[in-house]
Amino acid sequence: MVTTAVEWVFLKFHPSRFTNPNRPLTSRCSNRLGFRRFSSSASLSVAAAASSSTVSEVDPKREPVSLGHATRPDFPILHQEVNGSKLIYLDNAATSQKPTSVLKALQNYYATYNSNVHRGIHYLSAKATNEYELARKKVATFINASDSSEIVFTRNATEAINLVAYSWGLSNLNAEDEIIVTIAEHHSAIVPWQIVAQKTGAILKFVNLTPDEVPDTAQLKEMLSRKTKLVVIHHVSNMLGSVGAKVLVDACQSVPHMVVDVQNLNADFLVASSHKMCGPTGVGFLYGKSELLSAMPPFLGGGEMISDVYLDHSTYAEPPSRFEAGTPAIAGAIGLGAAIDYLSEIGMQRIHDYEVSAVSQYLSLFLDQILLSDFLLKLVCKGFMIMRLVQCPNIFLCFWIKSFFLTFFLVCRMSISSSVKLFKMSF
Ligand SMILES: Cc1ncc(COP(=O)(O)O)c(C=O)c1O
Repeated sequence: MVTTAVEWVFLKFHPSRFTNPNRPLTSRCSNRLGFRRFSSSASLSVAAAASSSTVSEVDPKREPVSLGHATRPDFPILHQEVNGSKLIYLDNAATSQKPTSVLKALQNYYATYNSNVHRGIHYLSAKATNEYELARKKVATFINASDSSEIVFTRNATEAINLVAYSWGLSNLNAEDEIIVTIAEHHSAIVPWQIVAQKTGAILKFVNLTPDEVPDTAQLKEMLSRKTKLVVIHHVSNMLGSVGAKVLVDACQSVPHMVVDVQNLNADFLVASSHKMCGPTGVGFLYGKSELLSAMPPFLGGGEMISDVYLDHSTYAEPPSRFEAGTPAIAGAIGLGAAIDYLSEIGMQRIHDYEVSAVSQYLSLFLDQILLSDFLLKLVCKGFMIMRLVQCPNIFLCFWIKSFFLTFFLVCRMSISSSVKLFKMSF
């Protein structure tokens, strides 16, 4: 009852009760840039929601369970108790947990066909090369790239952005050219452009956020001019249209949560990290339109990225090999392929719907309740402090004030504990 009353107050009066938790929390401080990591309910649900190609079977006779409930068994790390409670993991914006199918794919590679890729004609090498290239195809299909050669495997999204900055940026940007970045970008999508701007004399311009904490598109449109050579933006719906400059989309926080279609977005470049999408660490990818990748010089020099090597110069391989110098993260890419199978089997639209409906609404309510309870608790503490200071002379008044604060205190405690119980039950 108590919880219901508190819920009602908050549902009625709290304006942000159904705000989109997918939205990145950004620093409001104007000269501090970049993402503040926030494990939103949305990212929470992906870890709980994503299921493997061996998606746990749900007993149809039982009560319908949420996607999170149904797929929780697929994550071995969640089968443990921490401090006497079942483990609930919320830090998916930083990195997601891995389902069994991904762990098996890694184990299978090392146990049965560990070998280098593109370097041998023996059985193991051929098998590893096939699986590695199959993973590239899976990424291409997942984001609807028109060809798998538009996918370059990198160490992570950060390296993918640096690849574009050093390869495309240094050879295409000149003094006075402009790069537009939103202030909400992750540091990895800001710092490389600062370095490139310093080297080329290009100018870095920042788009602010609206009060809703989304990039101010009106300001962005005003900033666009013939001088604009690149816009760097995290993936927030299809808001850019055609801006006339190259667009780099940071899809780290969207690819694990929704259908991403690079052709529909008309993105020139798009980057993401495997470890945020139920895949292994140490691998990420860059999508680049083939005409852009073909015109870009190498990022790193070494084996695999060459066509012919002479003593005084070398010629380079076609993309994507041109940008994959040295032995790549073979196991990582294969694991990423398994993660994509895993997410695809559930369906990105289903994951997205689940995230924005039940879980996000529940969690925003939960967070609201915590905030309210926290506020009330502080009020109670302040009340006790004031009473101590004033040393109320009227014994009856003092009694009533004390009872009032004590009731408040109990309401808060009950509200918090019932919220926590509800929260735990929902996973
Ligand atoms: C939006 C966004 N972009 C880029 C990155 C960098 O990803 P990584 O550290 O995997 O390169 C992150 C990581 O938190 C991110 O959230």
